[in-house]
Order: sequence, then C-alpha cells, then structure tokens
Amino acid sequence: MAKVLIGFMGSGKSTIAKKLDPHYVDMDTVITDRIGMSIAQFFKEQGEPAFRAIESQVLAELLEEDIVLSTGGGVVLSDMNRQLLAQNQPNIYLKADFETLYRRIAADTVNDRPVFEQNSKEDLEKIFDSRQELYEEVATQTIDVASLSPEEIVEVLV
Ligand code: S3P
Repeated sequence: MAKVLIGFMGSGKSTIAKKLDPHYVDMDTVITDRIGMSIAQFFKEQGEPAFRAIESQVLAELLEEDIVLSTGGGVVLSDMNRQLLAQNQPNIYLKADFETLYRRIAADTVNDRPVFEQNSKEDLEKIFDSRQELYEEVATQTIDVASLSPEEIVEVLV
C-alpha cells in the first residue's frame, strides 16, 4: 500500500510528500512522462476525459507500491479511483480554505494547471466546494494545513 497525499491544487501535496520521503512518487510527473507532453498540452489536444483515464490507470498501478504518493487534485473525481483509494491507507487529506489555496495557485509560476487556467475564480471555487466531500470520503486522516508550515505538517504525520 502507498502513503497517499490528497487535496486540492496548492495544498502542498508534493512538498509534504518530498519531506516524508525524498523518493516519493508524483502522479502528475508519471503521467507527464507517459503522455510525453505537459498536462496542459494534453488537455488541449485530447481533452480532460482522456487525462482522467490515464490518471486512473496510473493510480491503480501506483497504489500497489510501497511508496509515498502525491496525487493530482482531481484524482478523487472518478468513482473507480475512490473505490481504489478506499482500500488503501493512509490517505492523508491536506485541507485548506479556498482563498488560501487560490492565492497559492495564482502565485505558482512553475506548475501549469489547466483546471486553474480554464476557470474563473468563481467557477474554481465551485469545483473546490464540490470536491470536499470526495476528499473526505476517502481520507483516513485530515490535516488543516492553512496555518501550518511544511515542517509542522510533517511532524503531525510521522
Ligand atoms: C488537477 C490538478 C493537477 C493535475 C491536473 C488536474 C485538478 O494536480 O493533476 O492539472 O483537476 O485539480 P495538482 O493538484 O498537483 O496541481
């Protein structure tokens, strides 16, 4: 089983995963390697459903491994993914309020995020709201990360 980090974009999944284990696996990186282009480009060329299909495949493969796994923010959207995650533990939900996350995503110039680029702030907040129950459904542990430093978060986890 994997130690899985879940949460919305900007919640710090990769940062925390790296602190837990420098050899952590980042799902978006695995997907990017597999599709041979950026996720943003793939969304443009093939559409979001094609991305979600690959994301499901990659999740199923990686959950078999004994790794720390940082997921993409939309991994909980599919029923199948949630069923797979329900059989795994721990699934650590890094939870924060929308404004905090929005500020972080907007300030991030490194990662290209089509779901952020293609939606207004208002629509993104609706997406955020609609995902809360999905994260909570599969989470075995929830940490409110908004006011914690990465070091403090890791302390809670180990
Ligand atoms: C997505 C989040 C991204 C990436 C893709 C879709 C989403 O990952 O998987 O752009 O739907 O929330 P991060 O949460 O690591 O930014």
